[in-house]
This record gives sequence, structure tokens and C-alpha cells, in this order.
Amino acid sequence: MKCLSTIVSLCAALFAGGCAIAPGPSPDLGAARAAAPAPADDRLFRALGGHAGIEALSESFVRELAADEITRAFFARTDITRFHRLIQEQLCAESGGGCTYTGESMRVAHAGLGIERRDMNAVVEALMRAMDEQELPIATQNAVLALHAPKRRDVLGE
Ligand code: HEM
Repeated sequence: MKCLSTIVSLCAALFAGGCAIAPGPSPDLGAARAAAPAPADDRLFRALGGHAGIEALSESFVRELAADEITRAFFARTDITRFHRLIQEQLCAESGGGCTYTGESMRVAHAGLGIERRDMNAVVEALMRAMDEQELPIATQNAVLALHAPKRRDVLGE
């Protein structure tokens, strides 16, 4: 129960407009601001469908980012093949799949892009649509959103 309320808080923190999946109280991210700790096990990796599931989710996510009016402009000059590989590595590493993330830190990768809160919300909405397309269970979706919450300030450069 405590675990569920933590996820709900992180989810609400990530999605400034309120968490559409599981509304919750205002969070205190305090300790959660550091990079995501290595997971104790591979449960989330397996819930995502392993490498194949993460690849399919990432494909849906990239498609949604490209289709969205707000987000697509940010990626106009991005090497999408590299970006696609890096988001898979990141999700695999943080879900317990044993991968190594080889990209930039979130602060460095997003510095100078002028990302604002509404842009962050648009990315989170794209991710949520992608997870719906992959028919991931709500608990798995919340766990993925919880992984992203501690990165929010770095991405926004706060
Ligand atoms: C918690 C949320 C986010 C996560 C976990 C995330 C994750 C990533 C990762 C792993 C990369 C690759 C890093 C690298 O190039 O070495 C990346 C790059 C990028 N992200 Fe994000 N991102 C997030 C939010 C956003 C938002 C809100 C935007 C803008 C709407 C955005 C736009 C970009 C762009 C344009 C790049 C490519 C930069 C380039 O071409 O070098 N990201 N992101």
C-alpha cells in the first residue's frame, strides 16, 4: 500500500497537469531527485516484455513524439536512430534488464533545448499513449512513469 502511494506521488510529480492514471496528493520529491537507483530485480523488465517489449514500446513512443504538434519540433534535428537506441538502453537498464545506458546525462542531453512544463506534459502524454498502444497494465505504466519522475528537474534545467 505504501509502495502504491509512492508511485502515485511520483506519477503526479511527473505529470504537472495531474496524473491521468492514478491521481494522488502533491508529492515531495526530495530524495527522489537523484538518478534512478539500480533496480533490485528484473520484475519491471519482464513486465515490459523484455527486450522485444521495450523495443515495441520505444517504437510507439517515437511514433507518438513525431505525430505530436508540440514534441515533433524538438526532434527536427535529432538522429532518431540513436535516440531510439538510447531510450531503449535507458529503460532496459532502469527496469532491471542488465543493459548499460551509454547516452548523455538527462541534464546535458536537454540543456539549451528550451523545454518548458507543457513540453514535458506533452512527452509524458505521448509515453502514456504509447503504453496504452502496447496494452501495458496500469501497474506497469505507473512503474515506468515513476522511473521518469526523478529526471524531470534535470530535463527542465531547474
Ligand atoms: C523524464 C523525461 C525525459 C526522458 C527520460 C528523456 C530521455 C532522453 C534520452 C535518453 C535522450 C538521449 C540522450 C542523448 O542524446 O545522449 C533524450 C534526448 C532528447 N530528448 Fe529527452 N527525455 C525526457 C524529456 C524530454 C522532453 C520533455 C523533451 C522535449 C519536448 C525532450 C526532447 C529531447 C530531444 C530533442 C533529444 C535529442 C537531443 C539531440 O538531438 O541531441 N526530452 N531524451
